[in-house]
Amino acid sequence: MSTHIGAAPGEIAPRVLLPGDPQRARWIAETYLDGARCYSTVRGMLGFTGTFGGEPVSVQGTGMGMPSASIYCHELLAEYGVRTLIRVGSCGAIRDDLAVRDLVAASAAATDSQMNRVRFDGLVDFAPVADFPLLRAAVDAAAAREVPVRVGPVFASDAFYTDRPDLYGRLAEYGVLAVEMESAALYTVAARFGARALTLLTVSDHLPRGEHLSSADRERTFGAMAELALAAAVA
Ligand code: ADE
Repeated sequence: MSTHIGAAPGEIAPRVLLPGDPQRARWIAETYLDGARCYSTVRGMLGFTGTFGGEPVSVQGTGMGMPSASIYCHELLAEYGVRTLIRVGSCGAIRDDLAVRDLVAASAAATDSQMNRVRFDGLVDFAPVADFPLLRAAVDAAAAREVPVRVGPVFASDAFYTDRPDLYGRLAEYGVLAVEMESAALYTVAARFGARALTLLTVSDHLPRGEHLSSADRERTFGAMAELALAAAVA
């Protein structure tokens, strides 16, 4: 096992879906994977492997925020030979041309995290971006299902609760669609290991409008997103 994942070598598939919530990992595995088996319960951060369309796929919870997500991404890539990571999460929209329930594919991630400043000695602002073939596979899968998906940059924030909501407005003016908390780390760690990464998000909150999805709606939109992620993962 690695430091935070209790799997033996070979127990994790080369492609992994990454919900923040470990109970979502269980739900995806039980709903969509054949023969799903739990490979890790360390810290309650559940991980499962099964097959989708005959291809091995794993689902691993990451927790919330970039320090937690980067631990799981690093260990999956460095110690289990994973090559494709697809985050499936929620976000708060910050632009008027999005609405709750919309699906977002994050082409890039701006961030207020200091992790990359440390990584590059404060000399470079690294640009964390999605893997383009994987992004295209998700967009193609959405088109085939006639599911609308909005492609654009997101803001990966260290804070869920902010004293600076004005910054969201400024980011929105620069084309940033939504705020979430993991993608900059996911894209950076994947780049470090020459692996593929993508984030798919459902809009659970509209921050300027103060709107929120009900938990029943969250489950429905989450399912549609998980199906797209699985289709892209095995494309
Ligand atoms: N995910 C969903 N809503 C969010 C918000 N307001 N901030 C950060 N991440 C989120």
